Amino acid sequence: MNQIIKLQNIIKLFHRKRWLSLNEGEGVVRAVDDVSIAIGEGESVGLAGESGCGKTTLGRLIAGLYEPTGGTVTINGRNINDGSTQVRRLLRTECRMIFQNLDAALNPFMTVEQILDEPLKIHTKKSKSDRRKRILEVLELVNLPVAFKNEYPHTLSGGEKRRVSVARAIVVPPKILIADEPVSALDVSIRAQIIDLFQHLREELNLTMLFISHDLGVLNDVCDRILVMYNGKIVEDAPIDKLRSRTLEHPYSRRLTESVLQIKVE
Ligand SMILES: Nc1ncnc2c1ncn2[C@@H]1O[C@H](COP(=O)(O)OP(=O)(O)O)[C@@H](O)[C@H]1O
Ligand SMILES: [Mg+2]
Repeated sequence: MNQIIKLQNIIKLFHRKRWLSLNEGEGVVRAVDDVSIAIGEGESVGLAGESGCGKTTLGRLIAGLYEPTGGTVTINGRNINDGSTQVRRLLRTECRMIFQNLDAALNPFMTVEQILDEPLKIHTKKSKSDRRKRILEVLELVNLPVAFKNEYPHTLSGGEKRRVSVARAIVVPPKILIADEPVSALDVSIRAQIIDLFQHLREELNLTMLFISHDLGVLNDVCDRILVMYNGKIVEDAPIDKLRSRTLEHPYSRRLTESVLQIKVE
């Protein structure tokens, strides 16, 4: 299997503002702490772990939105931080990230059609009529009525906004999709629909997917493999069967599994 995403000894430090730290060194957060992983083409990998453990930071490093403090991120055989603008441009078409906060992600002054047209204008040379056609196609793919193209984000429900954000991520089909907590803000019934959508897209587009969630139950439905992150480190890298059979090995993963099972019983 072609290893499309490869991280070698990735470190990301953030420097907190001085007045928050009492002692020297306390102002540094090790958000990602020596992570090495490889993800194969077409694989769907879940990234779990409690809030603040470094999941979003890791996603952003893969998408090239952060520079690592140390280590190498290789996408499709190319080091994305080697300073080449050509590599960056390629990365932007190959790899798309869906952000957690819907209201920050969708421009409130643009209609759905304008939101979807933007990546087409930037990344393709399609004519206006071809772009229109693609927008209708992609609305159908994410299961939104065509008439929604004239709506503004504030008129949409949470689930509909999420569909638009997914549509924007795939309107120019990427090879890699990073979804950061894409269902965490949604009601349970809507959540199931969006999970269905991700399963469908995965098959339809042959995507390599990194699906970030603090909820192991969600990952169980979408992923082949699971990574558990704790304190900036990957403490477990296991096939999804191990989650189902409750045989994850790291004590922290076990605790995470138990808390999910408790929720399911309620
Ligand atoms: N831009 C930033 N500046 C400073 N600290 C940050 C920044 N982004 C994240 N952090 C810190 O890094 C750690 C990991 O954050 P994050 O990756 O958002 O975790 P998660 O997505 O798992 O909740 C946290 O301690 C967080 O406060
Ligand atoms: Mg996060």
